[in-house]
Amino acid sequence: MNISAVPTVTLNDGTEMPQIGLGTWKLHDDEAVRVVREAIAAGYRHIDTAALYGNEEAVGRGIRDAIAAGDVTRDELFVTTKLLNEDQGSQRAQEAFRESLGRLGLEYIDLYMVHWPWPQRGLYVESFEAIAKLQGLGVVQSVGVANFYEEVLRELIERTGVFPAVNQVELHPGFSQAGLRALHEELGIVTEAWAPLGRGIVLMNPVLDDIAIRVGRTPAQVALRWLLQLGCSAVPKTAHAGRLAANLDLASFKLTRDQMDAITALDDAAGFGRIFADPREYPGEVG
Ligand SMILES: NC(=O)c1ccc[n+]([C@@H]2O[C@H](COP(=O)([O-])OP(=O)(O)OC[C@H]3O[C@@H](n4cnc5c(N)ncnc54)[C@H](OP(=O)(O)O)[C@@H]3O)[C@@H](O)[C@H]2O)c1
Repeated sequence: MNISAVPTVTLNDGTEMPQIGLGTWKLHDDEAVRVVREAIAAGYRHIDTAALYGNEEAVGRGIRDAIAAGDVTRDELFVTTKLLNEDQGSQRAQEAFRESLGRLGLEYIDLYMVHWPWPQRGLYVESFEAIAKLQGLGVVQSVGVANFYEEVLRELIERTGVFPAVNQVELHPGFSQAGLRALHEELGIVTEAWAPLGRGIVLMNPVLDDIAIRVGRTPAQVALRWLLQLGCSAVPKTAHAGRLAANLDLASFKLTRDQMDAITALDDAAGFGRIFADPREYPGEVG
C-alpha cells in the first residue's frame, strides 16, 4: 500500500488526521495485536480504540511492536481512545485519561474523545472541559467527542468555548446523518463515521451491489468511498488481512454525483436507519 495514498483531513486545531482508521471494537488479546500489526503493515496510520473495548493493552502492544520492528514511527501514527461513560466527571476524566495512556503504553494520544454524552448524568460538559485542559501538556494532541447530537454539541461549545475537533457518530449507507454533518461543517468539526460498513449488515443491498459492479469494487469499498467523498473520516473494523487492504484501497476510483445521491437516498429506504442506540437515550437513567 502506498501510504501517501491515504488521504488526511485537517482538524480545527491544525492537526492532520488520516481519513481512514482501523476500528478495533471486538478485537481482543492476540487477535488485536495481530490485526493492529497487519493494519500498520498494510498502510493504516490511524487506530481507533476506547477504554470501553477492553483492548487498550493489546492495541497498544500491537502499536509498540510495530514501532519496535521499524514498521512505523510513533509520529507517523494517529491513535485515538475514548473516555468510559462511568469515568465522566472533571477529576475522574483526567485520571481515566492517564489510565488509558498507561494501558496503551504510549506517551501521548493523538485524539481523546468523550465516548457518549449520557445526558441523563449531566457530566459531559465538565468531562470535556477536563480533557481539553490536558491539551498543551504534551499528552493529548486533539480533543473530541463521540455520539454528540446538536443540542449537547451546541451546549458544550457555549459553556466551554472549545470546539471539539471531531464528533465520531454512527454513520453508514442508510443512516447518512445529513443534519449533523451540516452542523459539523458550520462549526468546523470533522464528522467521523463509526460502523461505516453498517457492521456488514447494510452492505447487502442492490443499490450498493449495482454501483460496486459498475466501478469494479466491493460494496464495502463503495460505502467507504461514499464517506470519503462526503468529507467524513471513517474507522472500519475487520479482523481479516484481505479486507484490511481493500478497506484502505479507496483512492483509485470515484463515485459520480448520481451514485453518491443514490447511496444517500438509502436513508429513505425501508429497513435502514440507526443500528445502535440513540445517544439521547443511551446508556439511560443513572441508577
Ligand atoms: N464511538 C462509538 O460509540 C463507537 C461505537 C461503535 C464502534 N465504534 C468504532 O467504530 C469501529 C467500526 O464500527 P463497527 O466495528 O461497529 O462496524 P463496521 O466497521 O461498520 O463493521 C465491521 C463488520 O464488518 C465486517 N467487514 C469489515 N470489512 C468488510 C469488508 N470489506 N467486506 C465485508 N464485511 C466487512 C467485519 O467483519 P470481519 O472482522 O470478519 O472482517 C465486521 O463484522 C469500531 O470497531 C470502533 O472502533 C465507535
